[in-house]
Amino acid sequence: MNNLTFEDNHNMPILGLGTWKSKPGEVYEAIVNAVKIGYRHIDCAAIYANEKEIGTAFNYLFTNNIVKREEMWITSKLWNNAHLSKDVKPALQKTLADLQLDYLDLYLIHWPIAVKPEVMSASKADEYLTPDEASLAVTWLAMNECKKEGLTKHIGVSNFSEVKLTDLIKSTKITPEANQIELHPYLQQNALVAFCEKTGIHLTAYSPLGSGDRSAGLKKENEPDLMAIPTVMEIAKTHNVTPAQILIAWSINRGTSVIPKSTNAGRQKLNLEAAEIVLSDAEMIALAKLDQHYRYVDGKFWEVPGGFYTAKWLWDE
Ligand code: A2P
Repeated sequence: MNNLTFEDNHNMPILGLGTWKSKPGEVYEAIVNAVKIGYRHIDCAAIYANEKEIGTAFNYLFTNNIVKREEMWITSKLWNNAHLSKDVKPALQKTLADLQLDYLDLYLIHWPIAVKPEVMSASKADEYLTPDEASLAVTWLAMNECKKEGLTKHIGVSNFSEVKLTDLIKSTKITPEANQIELHPYLQQNALVAFCEKTGIHLTAYSPLGSGDRSAGLKKENEPDLMAIPTVMEIAKTHNVTPAQILIAWSINRGTSVIPKSTNAGRQKLNLEAAEIVLSDAEMIALAKLDQHYRYVDGKFWEVPGGFYTAKWLWDE
């Protein structure tokens, strides 16, 4: 499998296992199975509310010598309620305790959105902190301190636009090592991808399969099905693989890391095998034509009456 190489020559396997929406009661088996069949990159986050169970799986895998800690790439993310300088390190320490780890490979600011420490998911304007009250630069400098202390080997962001990346770099002089964003053939984000490449920011594609298992509250009516796009289906047929595998291969052939979520052993295997599919130039051109700038995770859920945050502000578009 290909890797994305960070500045210190540390390699992130280009395909990882996503754990968003992996339910408690399922995720332990999912992690153990994934690692046993060859996954070496796991993507986690505090807000997924499953890190404790994932930690039990890591502990089992490491103590039984099924894999060594240093062979794994483990990412997690800082939740919106821990953006204040004093809250960043304790949040990372909580994630490390839950995951039963001494260090992370990559720690990301999950969203450029801040809420008050006592709030998990804000529904009212006064539960948020504006960028003046909780500056992303301050959060970022606290993330960098965690890196210096060795709690995480690398730091990055998620859901950051080019504007927000540029501002962050300008105000702190510290370039994020990675940006995790929604990417799939219906949301190709070519300008942001080019900017990140130019700036030396690795990209990870989330929702590569369209995250059809999101809760009803996060879904729109009549969402498109990436796996039913005729071009994707045709290319899948040519390679004798599934449409999901082509969607995963598209990210990898583009040079971005990708983290499909599956708690199903058979689909985990298919997704892992997709890392080896080589798409031709003609196939990549055909897939490039599918772009619709369509977001499954549209960020509108941060909008509340009278609140500062809007999807327009979030994506700068
Ligand atoms: P499951 O976990 O039962 O396999 P995303 O990674 O975009 O968030 O999408 C995750 C969704 O896609 C989940 O519903 C997951 O179901 C499903 N999924 C994962 N891998 C495949 C696959 N190879 N084929 C079809 N569906 C898949």
